Formats: sequence, structure tokens, C-alpha cells
Amino acid sequence: MKCTICKKPAVIKLRHANLKLCPEHLVARVEKVVAETIKKFHMFTPAEKILVAVSGGKDSLALWEILRKLGYRADGAYLDLGIEGYSARSREYSEKFAAARELKLHVVAVEEELGTGIDGLVRVARGKACSLCGTVKRYLLNHVAYEGGYHVLATGHNLDDEAATLLGNVIRWEEGYLARQYPVLPGEGKLVRRAKPLVFLSEREVAAYCVISGIQYIYEECPHAVGARSIALKHVLNKLEDRYPATKLTFLRGFLKVRDRFRPREPVELRDCPICGMPTAAEGPCRFCRLKERVSHGAPA
Ligand code: FES
Ligand code: ZN
Ligand code: ZN
Repeated sequence: MKCTICKKPAVIKLRHANLKLCPEHLVARVEKVVAETIKKFHMFTPAEKILVAVSGGKDSLALWEILRKLGYRADGAYLDLGIEGYSARSREYSEKFAAARELKLHVVAVEEELGTGIDGLVRVARGKACSLCGTVKRYLLNHVAYEGGYHVLATGHNLDDEAATLLGNVIRWEEGYLARQYPVLPGEGKLVRRAKPLVFLSEREVAAYCVISGIQYIYEECPHAVGARSIALKHVLNKLEDRYPATKLTFLRGFLKVRDRFRPREPVELRDCPICGMPTAAEGPCRFCRLKERVSHGAPA
């Protein structure tokens, strides 16, 4: 197998892009796709301060590396979720990555902010681990970004993640979620802008980028993700992709073209949470503060 561009030995075949690439051209392609995505969706400029949500996994570490190489000013934020074993290991990968490159990494322990980690939260609050964890992550990452004066919070969602989320939203016709599924969401008040610069890169490309660039990342998945719906959705899409290359990309791109149809007629009104002062669409305390209250009472609610 030869590289489509330089004819040297290729290490990866990307059927969806009709390319076979050598290490050098895979790295170049990945960085180019990210640079173009940032510009096309006006995600941020080199003058702005970026906070990368770092999990220790391949996507977030690759994102941080790419932004750095493209000349953006990016710090990292790692949330110690308090998941037995997994959190300690993922934290180690994140800290090592930052230290080796002399990058600034904010480390926030969920237990300190919430009174317990995700393992403990799952025991006292109703709901699936991933959705509870999602609430906690969104809140705390936004908090770190806002308090730190960052212009934008960047996350490592890749094409496989986005296509699976989209499929899940379409299956249930979640119009509200569809309206908010976009590579960049503007900030408002204390809600910091959010951007997903990797949405047009497949998981395989990102993993290959890490291996070639010598980025060490945690391979294991979060133990709470076992049996999660998102994994089943990814599985279905992988089957389709095998048979019909570029399914995921076509699905996502096609959606972005028609997404305007799902815009809410009236914008969601945000108020300040009476407890923490952060924005919320809910009447009364925000979801995070409500979870915190449950944790402090220690009983399932
Ligand atoms: Fe949050 Fe797994 S990473 S529940
Ligand atoms: Zn090449
Ligand atoms: Zn609150």
C-alpha cells in the first residue's frame, strides 16, 4: 500500500476520504482538517484563550497537541471524576502530557466540588451514570473556563462521537438537542463558547495521529460506559460505514446543511442559579446544585 500523495509506504487507508497515507501525510491531513474546521465555523482566533477539556484519552490529547502546533494559546482542564482506578490512570496520562510539553493543566476534583465523585453520585442520584456525569462535566468545565477568563472551551468529540449523537437524537426526534448540535455554540453571559474542532476526523485517524506523534493516552474506556446507548449507536454506524464508506461524514455534513430547520422558535431563556450564580434554563437551582444537595443528604432522590 502506497501513500496517495508521496508514494512512500502508507500506514492507514481512509476509505471515506479515498486516501492511503504515510505517517507524514496523515499528520498533515489531520492538522489541516482541524485548521479548516476552526476557520469555517469561526471557532476561535489565535488571539483568544482556549481551554481544552482533557480526559487523558486520544481525542482530547490529540486536540491539545494540534492546537499547540497550529499556534493557538491553549491550556488544559482535567476533571478527576472519582471513578475507581480509571480516574487515577487517566489523570496520570493527562499530567504527563502537560508536563512533557510544559503546558498548563488545571486539575479539578469532582469530589471537592460536589461532595462525592461519579461513583458516589451514581449511588445516591437517579439516572444513568453517563448522563449524571455529563451534567457534572458540563458545569465544572464551564466553571473553570469562565473563572479562568477563557474565551472558549474546546472538546475532543470526533466524527464517530458526533455521528452517534446525531443518530441518537434523530431516532428520538429530539428537536431541542438537534438544534444545539453544532461544531460551535456561542457563549452567553457566564456560559463560555464551546467548540469541537475534531468533528470531521474519524476515531481511527485521531488514534493514528497519536501513535505517530508519540502521544501516550489511556486506552481503556470509562467503566460506566459499558452497555451505554452511545456504544450501540457507534456499532450500528460502524457496520454501515464498513459497507458504505463515508456514511458518518455524509450523515453529519447533510445534517449541518438542514440544521436550521431545528432552530427553536424562541430562544431558551437563561437565569442565574440562586445558589451558585451560574446560568441555568431551570426555574430555581441549576442541575449541578440540585445534585449537590442530594449528595449532601446522602439518600436517593
Ligand atoms: Fe463520565 Fe464515564 S466518563 S460516566
Ligand atoms: Zn506520503
Ligand atoms: Zn447552581
